[in-house]
Amino acid sequence: MIVPKERAEEIRQKLVDDGVMLEHTKVRREGDLVYFPVKRQVHIEGCAMGSGEFEIIRRKSYDDALRERGIHIDSISLDLIGDIAVIRLQEESCAKEVAQAIMETNPHVRTVCLDRGVEDDFRVRKVEVVAGERNTETIHREHGIRMKVDVARVYFSPRLSSERMRVAKKIEHNATVIDMFAGVAPFCLYIAKFSHPKKIYAIDKNPHAVRYARENVLMNKKEDIIEVIEGDARDVMGRLPQADHIIMNLPHQSHEYLPHALQKGKHIHYYEIMEKERIEERVRQIVKESAQEGYSVNAGEVRVIGSYSPSKVKVAMDLEVKHF
Ligand SMILES: C[S@@+](CC[C@H](N)C(=O)[O-])C[C@H]1O[C@@H](n2cnc3c(N)ncnc32)[C@H](O)[C@@H]1O
Repeated sequence: MIVPKERAEEIRQKLVDDGVMLEHTKVRREGDLVYFPVKRQVHIEGCAMGSGEFEIIRRKSYDDALRERGIHIDSISLDLIGDIAVIRLQEESCAKEVAQAIMETNPHVRTVCLDRGVEDDFRVRKVEVVAGERNTETIHREHGIRMKVDVARVYFSPRLSSERMRVAKKIEHNATVIDMFAGVAPFCLYIAKFSHPKKIYAIDKNPHAVRYARENVLMNKKEDIIEVIEGDARDVMGRLPQADHIIMNLPHQSHEYLPHALQKGKHIHYYEIMEKERIEERVRQIVKESAQEGYSVNAGEVRVIGSYSPSKVKVAMDLEVKHF
C-alpha cells in the first residue's frame, strides 16, 4: 500500500488495527511516500495499491520462543499498552512461560500482566503481573498523543485508536463535546488534537481515571480546551451546556444513560454490546425508544468495532438527534 508520508502514522495504525499489516517485513520509505506491506487489497482514500519487494525481518517472535520450549498455545490475546504487555489466555497454567517468551522477544516490554477480565462499573481489568517489573503504570503513545495509565486501576484499550480517530474527524470547528465516560480521556485528547473544538467536558466517576485524565490533559497541553469532571454522568450532565457531540463509551450500560444524552446533544457517538445477528433490529429499537422519549433520531454510521463473545459484538452507532 502506497501512502503519503504525512498520513503514514494514521494509516499504519489503521492497518495494524484491521489486522492487514504483514508482520516481519520492513516498511519502505521513498521521498514523500511510504510503502506498507499488506496481506490483501485495501481501499483507503488518497492511497494506492502497488507491488514490490519488502525486506523480511528475521526477528524471533514469542511464538517461536514458545515452540522452542515445546509449548503450543491455541488462543492468546495480546495488547501492548506503553511498555506493558497485557495477555489473555484460555489456558492460564503456562502464563509464566508465555510472559517470559514475550519479554525475551520484545525488548520494549518491561512488564507482562495476565488479564483476568474487566470488572465493576469502573471497567477496570483484574490483572496479575506474571513477568518483569511489578509496576502497572506506563505511558502509552498514539498518533503523537501521550497517555499515562495504570492498567490495574483504570480502563484503557489500545484497540480503539482507529475509532477515536474516526470520531475526532466528525467533530466540527468550534464544537462543544461531552465525553460522558471519559476514562483517562483518550477520545477527548484525539478530538483536542485533530479537530478544533471550542470546549470538551470529560466526565468519569473513577477517581483514578480522573487523576490520570487531568495529568494527560496537562501533559498534552490541552488544559484550555478539556475540563475533567469527577462524578456520575447522571448527576453531572444537568450542569453542562448543550453539546454538539456526546460520546458514550460504556458499552454494557450506555443504554441506561441515553435519555441524558438525548436531552443534551445533537450527535451521539453511542457504543453497545449486542447480538451480531440482531444489529439492525437493535438500531431500530433505539430509534423507536428515543421517539418515545420525545426525540426524533436518525441512525447514521453503524459499525462493528470489536468482538465480545462468539455471538456478541461491540457496535459503534452515530445518532443524530432532531428535537421534536
Ligand atoms: C469502557 S470505559 C471507557 C473509557 C474511555 N472512554 C476510553 O475509551 O478509554 C468506561 C468508563 O466509564 C466510567 N464510568 C462508569 N460509569 C460511570 C458513570 N455513571 N458516570 C461517569 N463515568 C462512569 C468508568 O469509570 C470507565 O472509566
